[in-house]
Amino acid sequence: MTSPSTAPSYGAQTKKITVATLRDMKSRGERITMVTAYDASFARLATAGGAELLLVGDSLGMVIQGEETTLPVTLEDIIYHTRAVRRGAGRAHVVADMPFGSYQADKNAALTNAARLLKEGGAESVKLEGGQEYAEVVEHLVRAGIPVMGHIGLTPQSVHAMGGFKIQGKSVEDARRIARDARALERAGAYAIVLEGIPAELAQLITGTVSVPTIGIGAGPVCDGQVLVIYDLLGMNPDFKPKFVKSYLELGRAIPEAIAAFRDEVRSGTFPAEEHTYHAKVPLFRPEEVRAPTLVDAEDDALEELYGISG
Ligand code: KIV
Repeated sequence: MTSPSTAPSYGAQTKKITVATLRDMKSRGERITMVTAYDASFARLATAGGAELLLVGDSLGMVIQGEETTLPVTLEDIIYHTRAVRRGAGRAHVVADMPFGSYQADKNAALTNAARLLKEGGAESVKLEGGQEYAEVVEHLVRAGIPVMGHIGLTPQSVHAMGGFKIQGKSVEDARRIARDARALERAGAYAIVLEGIPAELAQLITGTVSVPTIGIGAGPVCDGQVLVIYDLLGMNPDFKPKFVKSYLELGRAIPEAIAAFRDEVRSGTFPAEEHTYHAKVPLFRPEEVRAPTLVDAEDDALEELYGISG
């Protein structure tokens, strides 16, 4: 038996987060918190923790599906997880990632796929990777009423083109290209831009020059918000500790410890204890049968009372 996770609500905010809320937060200098979420239970917990944005990231390919990259993730995968996240999200705004291959071919296919994320998944906006080269796609989706979050710098779907998950924008030329990407996305109508894996100085420059919020990951402190993959934030993988990640818990250690404690109690017979055990309120067996019990035939009424079944 399980029940959906519940958690205290920090700050007890109830007003729904919209793209307008995020714009207002930038203008007031209030930092935005985004975390990834892939299911209803974590969505509920992340919203209770005060995250404004829940990203159903294609990082699910790596942390949920165990793939080496985000490339195998399909639109169906994202729709499935978005639907679950939507159920737990509450006031938080749900952003669905457009997976590799779902928007690159042409802008009409991109619109069809983005619409599915909203219609079938319940997302409130979509995110796609790429700058100037996808400005036309972003504009097309925005014109159709779909809010789009951009994503530039280290774009994991281009892992093979980049030659690995490498920090981008380290040369003047590359930094200028990324700054142009940010301006192109702003002009195309993106409501926010993820800046991933770039020098802090470049992120600061972009944040100061675009009117829409920037959300950093591995991009230093001067962004309008920050995002982390929730499994990294919770320290689920003790072997994955890149410089840009801060783990606020060490679940990668705590979870195996909890399971080992359960296993020990199962083996020793100390779980379940009396407080975890249900008892019948009427005698079900004849006393002489207690060691090898068979059901008493004459106890139909008692069984019905106990389990709602009739004999
Ligand atoms: O897929 C993802 O989780 C992301 C974030 C890391 C920004 O794109």
